[in-house]
Amino acid sequence: MLRTIFLLFLIFALSNASVQDFCVANLKRAETPAGYPCIRPIHVKAKDFVFSLGIPGNTTNIISAAVTPGFAGQFPGLNGLGLSTARLELAPKGVIPMHTHPGASEVLFVLDGYITAGFVSSANSVYVQTLKPGQVMVFPQGLLHFQINAGKSPAAAFVTFSSASPGLQILDFALFANSLPTELVSATTFLDPALVKKLKGVLGGTG
Ligand SMILES: *[C@@H]1O[C@H](CO)[C@@H](O)[C@H](O)[C@H]1NC(C)=O
Repeated sequence: MLRTIFLLFLIFALSNASVQDFCVANLKRAETPAGYPCIRPIHVKAKDFVFSLGIPGNTTNIISAAVTPGFAGQFPGLNGLGLSTARLELAPKGVIPMHTHPGASEVLFVLDGYITAGFVSSANSVYVQTLKPGQVMVFPQGLLHFQINAGKSPAAAFVTFSSASPGLQILDFALFANSLPTELVSATTFLDPALVKKLKGVLGGTG
């Protein structure tokens, strides 16, 4: 008797179970701290869960490097799933300058070439390693880190993040690519004002 009641209850409960399996991003709406609003499941297509990282990014730029992000804004199927991906290209001498992802830890998987990568902990300890193809390095959330091509040939890597929107703050951009006055940058970094002005000129900052 009890068993029958239990089974009936289970069937009833399961028939009403509506699990939110996914929340494919509605990119026409603004992103919130909780991600994008979802499109209705009836409009979800298989291609929403697929993203191409097969095309190398263009490294003809000041850092000789390129990052192709597959975050929720580019890859709607991973909205709300707490992870995302990217592809990294480093031409010879290429560098991804010191930066942080405020919202995510990062795993870097080297596909081609040699990459020297490292991060600085909040205790100010330094962890640097030169990676070869097949090696993976993890960068804990929020810590300043960098990647540099350590070889003479192009390098490439796949990256995954523990957030659909990891965020990106580049240290040199924060210091030299905005309108923060030179005297304040100089006073708060102990860098010579002439050097601050020079770097603002290179990176497009003012003041
Ligand atoms: C790469 O970027 C450079 C500089 O913006 C541009 O001149 C060049 O055409 C681009 N190459 C490709 C293959 O898109």
